[in-house]
Amino acid sequence: MSEKPRYERPSLQRHRSGAMNKMGSFPGLRSKGQIDGVAVGELVERYGSPVFVFSQRTLEDRIRTLRDAMRLRWPRVQLAWSYKTNYLDAICQIHHREGSWAEVVSGMEYERAMRNGVPTSQIVFNGPYKDDASLERALVGQSMVNLDHYDELAAAERIAERLGLRPKVGIRLNMSAGSTPRWSRFGFNLDSGQAWDAVRRLLGGGKLDLAGIHCHLGTFVLDLDAYREAAGKLAAFANRLRDELGVKLDWLDVGGGFASQSRLKSQYLPGEQATPPLSRYAEAVADGLRGLNTPPSEMPLLILETGRALVDDAGTLITTVVANKRLPDGRRAVVVDAGVNTLFTSFWYQHQIHPAVPLHGTPEPTVIYGPLCMNIDVVADSLLFPPVEVGTHLLVGPVGAYNIPQSMQFIFLRPPAVLISPRGEHGLIRRAEVLEDLVSLDRVPDWLRGE
Ligand SMILES: Cc1ncc(COP(=O)(O)O)c(C=O)c1O
Repeated sequence: MSEKPRYERPSLQRHRSGAMNKMGSFPGLRSKGQIDGVAVGELVERYGSPVFVFSQRTLEDRIRTLRDAMRLRWPRVQLAWSYKTNYLDAICQIHHREGSWAEVVSGMEYERAMRNGVPTSQIVFNGPYKDDASLERALVGQSMVNLDHYDELAAAERIAERLGLRPKVGIRLNMSAGSTPRWSRFGFNLDSGQAWDAVRRLLGGGKLDLAGIHCHLGTFVLDLDAYREAAGKLAAFANRLRDELGVKLDWLDVGGGFASQSRLKSQYLPGEQATPPLSRYAEAVADGLRGLNTPPSEMPLLILETGRALVDDAGTLITTVVANKRLPDGRRAVVVDAGVNTLFTSFWYQHQIHPAVPLHGTPEPTVIYGPLCMNIDVVADSLLFPPVEVGTHLLVGPVGAYNIPQSMQFIFLRPPAVLISPRGEHGLIRRAEVLEDLVSLDRVPDWLRGE
């Protein structure tokens, strides 16, 4: 005899498009019972829930696709892995095994890159604050330091003078390009002439050599014309440097910013329809650089600092339903064991959420929220979702970019991360946090301990 279905109290709902309408009913939510051939149940049993799961195959595939697409279109190309996007050692080491250098934006990241065996001459050092010790280490180590502002330029000169060095440096430029919101806080502005002034100041100081120019337009840039225009402006700037000041550049760095297959909250089309393939980004950059007027033997190295577009799609979070509720406005609510502490990108992504088992029943607008006891802790705020039992595992993706380095240790301990190899082996790449990790940092001063 089949089991009697569980009773659920009915509720009245405003009809919203997407559920039952004149076209019929919601086509159903695709379930995903495995990641790269490993069953979700096996992963949870072994590592617990929530758990981040990374696909080595997807990551390697993305790196190779971008590298090959760019090399097809430009003679000298170097990827530099943007550490801030995901600096788990295993993830960085996959990039380095594929030949990528490191791109870092702090002294801590610089040290991580060195620990991962990256020679200092293969570290690109960006960012608006490089403390003196880190700046000195990078200049001495002949890293590609891209200066962000005049104070940093002066600091680099002081270090060079004190150590009797004449380091090569780059400068970061910002500019308007395509339809992207302008990231104008970083570097020197190209359109206003500030960047040109900075170059004259740098050369006039006589303590540093200008060897590179860099820009990073922003992040999740869907507009290919932005890259075409930015690369064109960089090429024109490089030409002017050569023609008017005799400066020959060693590197030309177009930063990162390519979009992953995710979907922003503001975005209508899903990622697989809206995000250009990596080859189209490469094409746009190469198109823009076409005006570079440099003899082949002096072609600068083209550096790409792509982060999100390489690692995001390789990462999935498995989370588990811990409760169901009905909110006063009639919406179904599902509580899961991972919130915005773990999934920082929930603030701007509409993540794809797949149950690990097929779900039946009528989908309704559903809020999925985490365990934080804070109103902001919303993983998905209006998703059409069928009823889902407590204990069901949900797969949230893509989440490989930024979530791990930006995760907050707030109320809950941070989850582990697992890597699945192309052969289907799996293992921890970050163990779960334990209470001892946290309390070992705390100190109780003497005056509170005394009787
Ligand atoms: C200087 C720099 N380069 C590269 C990146 C990587 O960007 P994305 O992950 O959007 O490719 C960032 C991220 O903000 C950055 O600041």
